[in-house]
Formats: sequence, structure tokens, C-alpha cells
Amino acid sequence: MKPIMIRPGVYWAGVNDRESELFEGLWTIQDCGVSLNSYLIMDEKKVLIDLSSELLTEPYVNMIKSIAPLNEIDYVVLNHLEPDHTGALLYLREANPNITYLGTKKAAEIIGNFYEIKDHFRIVEDGEELKIGKFTLKFAAVPFVHWPETMVTYLVEEKILFPCDAFGGYGALPGVVFDDQCPDLPKFEAETLRYYANIVAAYSGNTRKAIEKLAGIPIEIVAPSHGLIWRKNPERIIELYRQWVDYAEKKREKAVTVVYGTMYGNTAEFAESVQQAVADTGLTVEMFNVRKADIGVILGSVWKNQGVIVCAPTYEGSLFPEMVSFLHMMKVKKVVTRTTAYFGSFGWGSMAKKQFETFAAEQRWDVVENYQFHGKPKQADFDLLPDFAEKFAAAVRAAE
Ligand SMILES: Cc1cc2nc3c(=O)[nH]c(=O)nc-3n(C[C@H](O)[C@H](O)[C@H](O)COP(=O)(O)O)c2cc1C
Ligand SMILES: [Fe+2]
Ligand SMILES: [Fe+2]
Repeated sequence: MKPIMIRPGVYWAGVNDRESELFEGLWTIQDCGVSLNSYLIMDEKKVLIDLSSELLTEPYVNMIKSIAPLNEIDYVVLNHLEPDHTGALLYLREANPNITYLGTKKAAEIIGNFYEIKDHFRIVEDGEELKIGKFTLKFAAVPFVHWPETMVTYLVEEKILFPCDAFGGYGALPGVVFDDQCPDLPKFEAETLRYYANIVAAYSGNTRKAIEKLAGIPIEIVAPSHGLIWRKNPERIIELYRQWVDYAEKKREKAVTVVYGTMYGNTAEFAESVQQAVADTGLTVEMFNVRKADIGVILGSVWKNQGVIVCAPTYEGSLFPEMVSFLHMMKVKKVVTRTTAYFGSFGWGSMAKKQFETFAAEQRWDVVENYQFHGKPKQADFDLLPDFAEKFAAAVRAAE
């Protein structure tokens, strides 16, 4: 893509990453890609806000050069030091050693560790303003809206917020950058929720604080470093993020995710019946094979849904390994207070039920059923399901 003017003197100058299969080496972006948005402000001082990954340095730098020669850049604002936004930094520094980097005190520390940069870094304080000509930049620290050093930058005169990872989403930009031009906004919003669940969810408390901190600021455009730029409806993306922050505690969708694993099909067969029984109560049920589905896709479903049903057999005395890994991810991402149940097949002796009970207690998941069956599920096992489903659906509907 070519640079796109957002407001006179303010350019989107980002790149699409359609090559990487995984984001952060973990989350699938194979089908949707991701954009790394950078912004160039052309004023008396020329300022870049966030950069690109190392992989995309060449197209990124060409993009910048098409607006201004690199030796004319005065400042690079580093809202966040994760390599998806700083990978091009060393190239830029070599091309123009006079650039001054702006970031929080914590960023000054981290940039030393990651890039061995100690000079030409200027710490900006929370609330500090920097006049760059006719424009003024204002910085606000938002620690742990992904990493400890994170801040957001606000272009005062144009009321543009550059929040880096916050308000961002997956999805390569479809030849256009603005929300009002997006040919499939529902799809982008779905990918944005998945991004939230994968990247931001664990920091929901800090994200809530950040949203509250920014609440008094008039915002006409939200220009994050991943995904669409929201100019028609900036309140929309802030509202979506507010809703997803809330999911950390309550107000989730009255819907259910079934996650199952299986070696020989016994648990899979039962999981199918569990899904059907719960669907018969009128709740929407999304079902995933834990070994086949991408963990980030499952997480996106679990983040929004109140009900989570785990179906997995016993393997070497313990819960099926991929399910252990999934439950571990639930801990890492602070997925708490769900309505839950466990079902699984076993052969001769198993710790799976106990393991699940311990996990559920730690995560404050409300266990409606914790049930194992021997080998192939029998009619007596299936007969339990209608009652279970009624109880489960009632608990999901009653949850805060
Ligand atoms: C590699 C392997 C290890 C197993 N380890 C145990 C075990 O330690 N304890 C147990 O009760 N059953 C164990 N089983 C039996 C399975 O839990 C049982 O076959 C179950 O029906 C598998 O469910 P599935 O068809 O959903 O894979 C094991 C089975 C396999 C294939
Ligand atoms: Fe990040
Ligand atoms: Fe990022």
C-alpha cells in the first residue's frame, strides 16, 4: 500500500504482514494477517509514531521515504517496545543517527536491554506535552496495556489518539485504512475480539484504567498500531474494548464453548451429545477440538462466553495433555468465573476429575458437573445429559 493522509500533515505509513503464520510466535494469523501501523507527522519536526517489525523493514522504510527522507526524521515516538513496533529501529538509527527516541522511563530501561541503545533517548513524563511546530504531542502512560513501558500519544490539535496495541485488532488492511471504508466490518470486529483475547485480555484491569484515564479527552480519530483507523465511529472501538474488558469479570454472552480432546473417539462422541443437549436448551454452543483448533481461536470464544465445557480422556493417569495445556492458557489469560463442567472417558484409573476440580477452584469456575465414564459412553451416561443441560443452561443464564 501507499501512505494515506489521515489529516493534513498526518499520515498512516504502515505495512501488512501477510507472511507470518503466527503472531507473537503463538497465535494464528495465517488466514487474516495483521497490519503494523506506523504514523508520520510532518511538521517543523518530523515525527514517527511506532515502527514496524524487522521482517517488514524494507517495505516499511520505503513507505516512509516516499513521504520524507529518513535524514529529516527528528523524533520516533516509541509507545511500546515490543518488536512488532520496534523491529525497524536499528535500521532507522543507522540511516539517521540523529533521531531522538521518545518513551517512558521504563522504555528507556527496556530499549537498553533489547537494542543496546543508551543515547538519543528522551524520557517523556506522563501528561507531558511536546510542541513540534503547529502540532502538539501529549503523552500518557498506560502501564501494562501490554508491557510495563506502554504509553499512548495524543495529537492535541487534531484530537487523534495513537494508542499502539490498545484498540488494535488482527486483520491485514484491505487496501483501505478507515472504519467507514472497510468492506467487512463485522469480520474485522470479530478478528479484533480475537486479538483482544490473545494479546490484551490478561491486562484487562490495566486496560480498564487506561480507558478511564482517556475518558475526558476528546477523541476524533483512534489510530492504533494494528488494524483499522476509527474516524467515523471512534467511540465504537472504545465501546467494544470496554465490553471485552468487562468480560474479565462479568456480563459475558449467555453462550457456551465446548472444548474437547480425544484419542479414539469415545470422548468426542460424548462431547457431540453434550453440545446437542446444551443447544437444545436454546443456548449457542461453539465446539472445538483442542488438538486441531488454534488455541487463540478457542480463547476468543472462551473470553466472550459464560459457559465452558471441557471434555477430555485420561492419558497416562492424567488429563489429555493438550487439555492440560489449554487449561494452563486459561490461567495465563486470567479466564475466571466461568460456568463449567467436565466429561471424559477413562480406562482403569485416572486423576483427571481431581485435576479438573483443582483447576476450577483456582479459577473460580462454577462446576455444574464433573463426570467420567468407562471406555465407550453407554446409554446410562447419555441419559444424564438432558438434566445436566437444563441445570447448566440455568447456571449460565443466572451468572452475573
Ligand atoms: C496412550 C494412552 C494412555 C492412557 N492412559 C490411561 C491412564 O493412565 N488411565 C486410564 O484410566 N486410562 C488411560 N487410557 C485409556 C483411555 O483413557 C481410554 O481408552 C479412553 O476411552 C480414551 O478416550 P478417547 O476415545 O476419547 O480417546 C489411556 C489410553 C491411551 C491410548
Ligand atoms: Fe504488544
Ligand atoms: Fe503490537
